[in-house]
Amino acid sequence: MENDVNEIHGNLFYRSPIKHYPMITKGEGIFLFDDKGNKFIDGSGGPFVVNIGHGVKEVNEAIYKQAEQVAYVHNAAFTTRVQEDLAAKVTSLAPSKMNRVFFVSGGSEAVESSIKLARQYHFETGNAQKYKVISLWQGFHGSTLGALSLTREIKRRKYFYPLLIPFPHIPSPYCYRCYYGKTYPECGVICAHVLESIIQNEGEQTVSAFIAEPIMGVAGGAITPPPEYFPIIREICDTYNVLMIADEIVTGFGRTGKPFGIMHWDVTPDIMTCAKGICSGYVPLGAVIAHERVHSAIKNGTGTFSHGFTFSGSPVSCAAGLAVLNYLEANNLISRAKEMGDYLKEQLNEMRDCRIVGDVRGKGLMIGLELVRDKSTKEPFDASVKLSDKIGARAQENGLIVRPISGLVDGTVGDCIMVGPPFIVEKEEIDLICAKLTEAIAGVEKEVV
Ligand SMILES: Cc1ncc(COP(=O)(O)O)c(C=O)c1O
Repeated sequence: MENDVNEIHGNLFYRSPIKHYPMITKGEGIFLFDDKGNKFIDGSGGPFVVNIGHGVKEVNEAIYKQAEQVAYVHNAAFTTRVQEDLAAKVTSLAPSKMNRVFFVSGGSEAVESSIKLARQYHFETGNAQKYKVISLWQGFHGSTLGALSLTREIKRRKYFYPLLIPFPHIPSPYCYRCYYGKTYPECGVICAHVLESIIQNEGEQTVSAFIAEPIMGVAGGAITPPPEYFPIIREICDTYNVLMIADEIVTGFGRTGKPFGIMHWDVTPDIMTCAKGICSGYVPLGAVIAHERVHSAIKNGTGTFSHGFTFSGSPVSCAAGLAVLNYLEANNLISRAKEMGDYLKEQLNEMRDCRIVGDVRGKGLMIGLELVRDKSTKEPFDASVKLSDKIGARAQENGLIVRPISGLVDGTVGDCIMVGPPFIVEKEEIDLICAKLTEAIAGVEKEVV
């Protein structure tokens, strides 16, 4: 497993050309195998992508079969049965009236599409001044310029700042470190009510949408809002004619133990963005799910959503997505994500005894452990320690892949380890994940405290 960066770094432009990447040759169930004979537990399903596990035969066969029939048509000119069928399957899982699906190829494309859809909705309904999208400080919405504009994390934005749209951001429902210095429930969920003052300050006639992940993911370390949060947000959005966008790119398709994360709050958004779990990583696929009201505004207005991508609705991607969602259903994997998630959280909660584990949070198979230098003051580690990266690397050396998060507190400091294996994980495998993670945390803790 040791570094020989030049050995495999031929012509490929790696994200980090100075890093060693194991060469993965096979995936099976919750495991990945490399060309050196190493076996890894995929303890986060990549970045929360692989929901049904690696190497599912039914999905591979569906991809092959579709490619044999027709691999590509331009969906500005044609439709396909498989695209229709997948849209029906997706909406059968979504809150009622969220019944129109626009396919794209990934998460950032879905978020870009949602910004444009909200904007065009307001244009069609006579509010052409509405364009701003409000998001949360610890939110992550993607890497393209529009999606990055909604992502406040300094380390991801710093080189690109002049290119970004100056959208407003508000504090997250981050109870462990309440921005207002309050405690739930005495706080009155001020972090939700603040949306109203921001809309008023920005000018309600300019605000198009509010976007949030139901449970915050790769920049938020599984921050989970209190039960009142989204109902309050929904009410404020309704009052000011602001569309509510649920970014379900991580939380969608069962990851949190319900079909969509927002269902834990029993709230219906206007738009949902999806990717990752919709095809469990077998092919690139994403989607925007629109409320019938939003779709009707376009249909009865100009009649065309002025937007689309060459690979929107790719038949092969849709065939993979359909096979994945059928597999999810046939094997009851959403309720399994809840059951295994409850068990995982129970086991991870025992790690609260570790000196540096400050918080354990999340739902289903999306659990985060926030790490701190001092539990009583919640003081984070200095960014130079690279704590979460060190723990991630140590776990990987020991055959476990988890998702290290840094910059959680203010975009620069704050560490978290996220765990979220494929839903097929067994209890004994969860025990193994927890044992390997405990070993990695304890090992790194000795070096840094
Ligand atoms: C919540 C959320 N939104 C959007 C994205 C962007 O997705 P992609 O990397 O597929 O463009 C991500 C990726 O991690 C995400 O977690």
